[in-house]
Amino acid sequence: MTEPNNLTLSHDDIRNFVPKADSLLGKSILVTGAGDGIGRVAALTYASLGATVLLLGRTSSKLEYVYDEIESMGGAQPAMLPMNLENATFTEMQQLEVMINKEIGALDGLLHNAGILGSLTPLEMYDADLFAKVMKVNVTSTLMLTQAMLPRLKAAPNGSIVFTSSSVGTHPRAFWGAYALSKQAVEGMSDIFTQETQNTTNLRFNCINPGATRTNMRAHAYPGENPLSLKTPEDIMAGYVCLMSDDSINVHGQVVALQPKN
Ligand SMILES: NC(=O)c1ccc[n+]([C@@H]2O[C@H](COP(=O)([O-])OP(=O)(O)OC[C@H]3O[C@@H](n4cnc5c(N)ncnc54)[C@H](OP(=O)(O)O)[C@@H]3O)[C@@H](O)[C@H]2O)c1
Repeated sequence: MTEPNNLTLSHDDIRNFVPKADSLLGKSILVTGAGDGIGRVAALTYASLGATVLLLGRTSSKLEYVYDEIESMGGAQPAMLPMNLENATFTEMQQLEVMINKEIGALDGLLHNAGILGSLTPLEMYDADLFAKVMKVNVTSTLMLTQAMLPRLKAAPNGSIVFTSSSVGTHPRAFWGAYALSKQAVEGMSDIFTQETQNTTNLRFNCINPGATRTNMRAHAYPGENPLSLKTPEDIMAGYVCLMSDDSINVHGQVVALQPKN
């Protein structure tokens, strides 16, 4: 997407955002895939800036570890939401929304970060079951969870939904198969939600493309690469914080590349 010139914050401003200690104070933010990689660091970063973080992921032991890290740094008590997005039902997600309303009382932000890579294979040979699994985790569950959380997010004064794309979502590339197509779909979902809600709610929808980042997923995609040559999740947190903070309340429908040269 071309960067519009009427943004109150440019993409450079978002990438280089300098948070204040209370940038997210009083906000409650749900992070999917919060047990590892970028999601884990986003959850810790949000908690360090005052947010109550709801940790959603499929591996409970990883969520427990992040929960303990937040408690030991003195952050607001987080919540653990074990859920496998591959087979979670819409009813289960709605039950989560009811629980959040009862236990936390509000939801200000939703970071859709969880994702799977599938395989790097020509489309001609792509396994249909694996294709469906990638689409379920990366796209369908993202839509379902957004729908389920909308009542809480619409009630927030400045709700923010952030999707996670990829360079191959913005520009599809040979052999990236279901993953690239799923990220294209996520960018489209953010765009359509933006168009459908911009005149009726205070909600904003944006996409982040983190760029090459030192995580397990990246290591699987590029096994020969030296991980030390990559940015860490900590290095790219400015954009993740900015899009959740009230500094970005006028930023809608953007795809923000955090490492534009990747
Ligand atoms: N790293 C990069 O270079 C890069 C570049 C562009 C875009 N991205 C995107 O950034 C996001 C985070 O990627 P990452 O590199 O941090 O990946 P990662 O290290 O593989 O972490 C992915 C997270 O998603 C969770 N997850 C996977 N399947 C799930 C499911 N069925 N239900 C619930 N949670 C599930 C994982 O849980 P478990 O730990 O329990 O498996 C893990 O916490 C993804 O959307 C990815 O596509 C990453």
